[in-house]
Amino acid sequence: MWVDRMRWSRVDDPRVAALPVDGHLRLVLNGHVLRLVRTQAGLFALEDRCPHQGRSFEGGWCEEGRLVCPWHRFAFDPASGRALHGSTVNVGTHPVEQRQDGIYIGFPYVTFRLFGLDLW
Ligand code: FES
Repeated sequence: MWVDRMRWSRVDDPRVAALPVDGHLRLVLNGHVLRLVRTQAGLFALEDRCPHQGRSFEGGWCEEGRLVCPWHRFAFDPASGRALHGSTVNVGTHPVEQRQDGIYIGFPYVTFRLFGLDLW
């Protein structure tokens, strides 16, 4: 049977814990290029690839809890990745957890479970 799983990776970059509200930064983790965004609502992880034309959010900014792409100023909800502009698709997001030993980001994957064992 196919099952959805989550692989969690700890963030060992000290810039993330020091990120201020309305700040964002690029982070490469497990081969994924992410954009971490801190708002009043918390810390969020998005793919660092604007769905409009595939460019990085580097040089963008946060305003009113939204991440704004610097290229054409489309805005996205960092929590859901939802495009607030209406003329592009959403940004992929990853769950973020604050645990006792640090910040973790989740990467979903699908595996096949056979007799109670996940095959990969
Ligand atoms: S590339 Fe981001 S809004 Fe166009």
